[in-house]
Amino acid sequence: MNAIMNFPDTDKYARVIKASKIVHWEIEPDVIKGRTFDLTKKYLPDGLSLVPEMSTLSDAEKRLVSQIQGRTYANIFGLVERFITAKLLDVGRDHTLGDQNALEALVRFSDEEIKHQMLFRRIESMMSTAMPAGYRFDVDPDMVARAVLSKSTWAVLMLTLHIELFVQNHYRQSIEPDDQLSELFKDVFLYHWKDESQHVVLDQLELKRHDPTLTPEQRDSAVDDFIALVAAVDGILRMQAKADMAYFVATCGRPVGTGERATLEAQILKAYRWQYIFSGATHPRFQMILGSMITEPQGKRIAAALATLQ
Ligand SMILES: [Fe+2]
Ligand SMILES: [Fe+2]
Repeated sequence: MNAIMNFPDTDKYARVIKASKIVHWEIEPDVIKGRTFDLTKKYLPDGLSLVPEMSTLSDAEKRLVSQIQGRTYANIFGLVERFITAKLLDVGRDHTLGDQNALEALVRFSDEEIKHQMLFRRIESMMSTAMPAGYRFDVDPDMVARAVLSKSTWAVLMLTLHIELFVQNHYRQSIEPDDQLSELFKDVFLYHWKDESQHVVLDQLELKRHDPTLTPEQRDSAVDDFIALVAAVDGILRMQAKADMAYFVATCGRPVGTGERATLEAQILKAYRWQYIFSGATHPRFQMILGSMITEPQGKRIAAALATLQ
């Protein structure tokens, strides 16, 4: 009997490998294709940037806010993918002498995330050429990754699943249907989504494999870690909403009063919390998977922590 039959999920990993090979793409010939960023188009769609709620802004200013948020969107992915790659390489070690399909699927996952980080660095440099000077994104990916990876594997895998699930929704529900967006920005997230559709399957397989190895006490502590990670994400979002608001004020070409500035900063923070926290936390598949692994009091603890961010 073939030894591979001893690995119950090996067919699922094999299907991920097959899909990953079919969608394989390269940054320059498939995504960039010699194009540059067009400042006459929006980058992030309204359903994510929430600019329609920013009633004091002109259409041109709303477009500028969507471009600033789009640039931050690419930078945030570049940031989170640093710890995601490190953690998935780490859990992939469990398969080195076992299921070779699982090993190959996770090696491909890491390779793709490294490519995504290169893509996001590439478009950050292109956006810095196209957009006015002064944009800041001062969060160091390695420093964040070190802090995240100090938490339990369960919490990091749960946060990763949450991120990779909201990527699916953002693309399918907001980016793909919007015909007003920069074609280049849209393609960046089309190709990113093609890989992330496989990653989300692997996140679930690894989480499902890891979860039963924990004692109830370890899982309870991992729930606290998960809450701490979400709070840390929120800290980054608060800082970036402030930085992005300062960039908008410096580049929009008109004075922005203190009251309007405070309102706009709160609206940008609301958009960032929607993009990076709530669109994932409310995702039905995330709720189903998380709910299947935790107790009711643990679920209430998470819900209470999320409620403080609204
Ligand atoms: Fe990615
Ligand atoms: Fe991914």
